[in-house]
Amino acid sequence: MSSPSSVRAHWSSRWAFILVTAGSAIGLGNIWKFPYMTGTNGGSAFVLVYLACIVGIGVPLLMAETMLGRRGQGNPVDAMRSVATEAGANQLWQVVGAIGILGASLILSFYSVVAGWILDYTVLAVHGFDGMSKDSLSAIFSALLADPWRLIGWHSLFMLLNLLVVIGGVTGGIERANKILMPALFAIVLLLLGYGIVAADMAAAVRFMFHFEPQAISATVILSAMGHAFFTLSLGMGAIMTYGSYLERGTSIARTCLYITLADTGIALLAGLSIFAIVFAQGLEPAAGPGLILQTLPLAFSQMPMGNIVGVLFFVLVAFAAWTSAISLIEPATSFLVERTGLGRKPAVAAVCFVAWFIGIAVALSFNLWSEIKLFGLNIFDLLDTLTTKMLMPLAGLLIALFAGWVMKRAHVADEIGLQGGAFRLWYGAVRYVSPVAIALIFLNVIGVIG
Ligand code: PHE
Repeated sequence: MSSPSSVRAHWSSRWAFILVTAGSAIGLGNIWKFPYMTGTNGGSAFVLVYLACIVGIGVPLLMAETMLGRRGQGNPVDAMRSVATEAGANQLWQVVGAIGILGASLILSFYSVVAGWILDYTVLAVHGFDGMSKDSLSAIFSALLADPWRLIGWHSLFMLLNLLVVIGGVTGGIERANKILMPALFAIVLLLLGYGIVAADMAAAVRFMFHFEPQAISATVILSAMGHAFFTLSLGMGAIMTYGSYLERGTSIARTCLYITLADTGIALLAGLSIFAIVFAQGLEPAAGPGLILQTLPLAFSQMPMGNIVGVLFFVLVAFAAWTSAISLIEPATSFLVERTGLGRKPAVAAVCFVAWFIGIAVALSFNLWSEIKLFGLNIFDLLDTLTTKMLMPLAGLLIALFAGWVMKRAHVADEIGLQGGAFRLWYGAVRYVSPVAIALIFLNVIGVIG
């Protein structure tokens, strides 16, 4: 079926897989989206449901998707076809791979626009944020959003950078880059955390994020938290499946996925704490929305010693985090085109990036010229975010859970996942019962059938 040599590379070690997949997982979702979603969804209620979703649905599905990729040894569509054939199941299961490829391409389109904001702020940080007030910072952010050419320019540059990397192949460059960038990102997050503890209001941040407040949990909070758990772990979009297909047999899926999740959740929580410490110390609005980090962190950079350097470093590293995630959004459609159409890797990558770039232009315009164009009350940016994060990702996750839990033969699952005894039963139970039931209930609740 698939032509193995062209894209079916193998990671050099299990640590390489952990780093690269953590590179996919840790991105704008952790440092940009998680803090602002926590802020707009009432803080601790959101964090609590998010953590529950990570443990109960996220980790089991991360393992299941990796397993499907490694067993299927192909791009998401062919991997699903091959595991469905092995299970004697309907070929329609390939749809799971198709949903992933479509969703990843849509995410890439708005992801690249937001990564463009980060590039813009990297340049701003070079000039420094000295003497700026919170009002001048929000004016700077509004001016960026109001300028279609600036948005489209940065979006195009980001997409181009991705194109150049993915054209060159995944293993060497990406692996090496991740080995340097991920520890550096971690160091910067720790530095910010230190600043948050010493110079900002960490106690208020801890209260906001971890104060037990179950009565604040609503249907919207639950759907947002579940959607974000999927988003942050890169689930259901074929990225994990494709990366899993490059994973050597014999590597423990459970252990690697656990490390990846710990790194991903750890970075999100630490970034969130640091940012809210600054928000509260400066009397800013936690529910500021998507511009939250761009309006808060520069205040801290303008006040801390060597703040200019830290500011530049921070935005560069967020850009790199976004970059290692965007690459994983390009790879599923690329591997599909290469393996299915016989297209070379270069034209395949160019086609994928072009489509996402083109849709991204509409996203960029939805902040200014097209801000009045709305469907279901959502502008193009919110629409794509909602469609992918709150619908396609949970849908793909549900199908992956049903397939791995009920369609695949148990012996094959056990063989591939490599867990024994109680640990296997725990994971299998989460995939067979907890994930599908939870996802279905949340869906039904949202469309108003129950609750
Ligand atoms: N997990 C990435 C983030 O948190 C986004 C992503 C989603 C990447 C889906 C790949 C697939 O930024």
